[in-house]
Amino acid sequence: MEQFALESGPFAEDPYPIFERLRREAPVFWHEGLQAYIVTRYADCRRIAEDAVNFYNSPDGNPPIPYVMQLAGANHARLRKLINPAFSPRGLANAVEPALVGIADEMIDRFIDRGRAELVDELAEPMATRVISLLLNVDRSREKWMVKTADEMLEAEANPANAELQKDYPEKLAALRAMFAARLAEERRSPSGNLITELVQAEQDGGKLSAEELLANTMILVVAGVETTKRLVSSLIYLLLSHPDQLRQVREDRALLKPAIEETLRLHSPNQPIMRFAQNEVEVGGLTMQPGTRLYGMRGAANRDPEVWPDPDRFDIHRFTAKGLPPHLSFGWGPHMCVGAYLSRRETTVAMDRLLDRTRDLRLDPDHEVRYIGFRNRGPKALHVLFERA
Ligand code: HEM
Repeated sequence: MEQFALESGPFAEDPYPIFERLRREAPVFWHEGLQAYIVTRYADCRRIAEDAVNFYNSPDGNPPIPYVMQLAGANHARLRKLINPAFSPRGLANAVEPALVGIADEMIDRFIDRGRAELVDELAEPMATRVISLLLNVDRSREKWMVKTADEMLEAEANPANAELQKDYPEKLAALRAMFAARLAEERRSPSGNLITELVQAEQDGGKLSAEELLANTMILVVAGVETTKRLVSSLIYLLLSHPDQLRQVREDRALLKPAIEETLRLHSPNQPIMRFAQNEVEVGGLTMQPGTRLYGMRGAANRDPEVWPDPDRFDIHRFTAKGLPPHLSFGWGPHMCVGAYLSRRETTVAMDRLLDRTRDLRLDPDHEVRYIGFRNRGPKALHVLFERA
């Protein structure tokens, strides 16, 4: 199989035909640009996600900034144990759950009289942004800046060789750190009662979470929670609107939203690569990896592996009503499985529910073609819709 560009050309437009070839012809494929193996079969991707002994998310499990996803072993387990309760249904019940409908309605209010909207910018992104700023009790006036800066920071961290991105990186990181350091100091003095209060509590419970760990993992929630949820909401709307018969079924029976969201996650994983570093000499798909080898398991490829998913390219909201299905890998699998999975499923459910409640004849605007973009995080670039007010 020949080399291919990731961020432009046919793969960027539509990676699925290339994933299909890779799965068949080169399921563990050395990509020159990435300097990593691209792994595409479900069994191999699931294995590298769940085998946290042989594969770490960072070169040695001891990253310069202690983001939870990059930690390994006992350190990772300790952090997850401290963070998990805040993200549980109980942890989110007081501050977040009751606010979700109001947040969705606030976004919808701004365009409901217009009969048309661009739902990535007008619903998916501002709603995901508002939810994170609520969790962290960040002032509304700062939320857009916070998300933009956190994204740029991550982009720079993911591309250390890109001089342009590196230029402003230290400044951006410092500005974001300063904002969160101030936010946390305030939170220690007067708790807001939001999720951030529970994180601060974990720090204060005998210093189980260090101040640096608290700061890093407060900051990382912005990156982990906005771009991903924004893409899930957008893809769900797109898939339902491009399958009107299934949209009708969901309108009539909202219980179908739950399996529709899982099917959306499977078909259009908002986050694509499972990025790992081999820690030992270890075999993947018949090839032996040396310690230090980089791997990119591709969730989009694994989630459409015909060995696991019958008729894998078909969108079927009933697929996940069956019992005993294997997990899709869109929230990860194993010890690093997404801590925000419940929250983002709830946000997506409420966004779609309110959009359906408040519109009639919701449809894609035929004057705008929907294009998917992004390699790491992937979703519709824009989503122009038409509707009547219900
Ligand atoms: C649709 C929305 C989301 C998707 C698709 C998603 C996807 C993922 C995936 C695939 C991982 C595993 C990464 C790996 O194994 O390398 C992950 C981990 C994580 N996610 Fe999410 N995420 C979403 C929403 C959120 C939200 C809303 C938050 C928090 C507010 C969040 C916080 C995290 C954190 C902290 C981790 C690291 C967990 C660990 O390494 O132990 N995510 N997410």
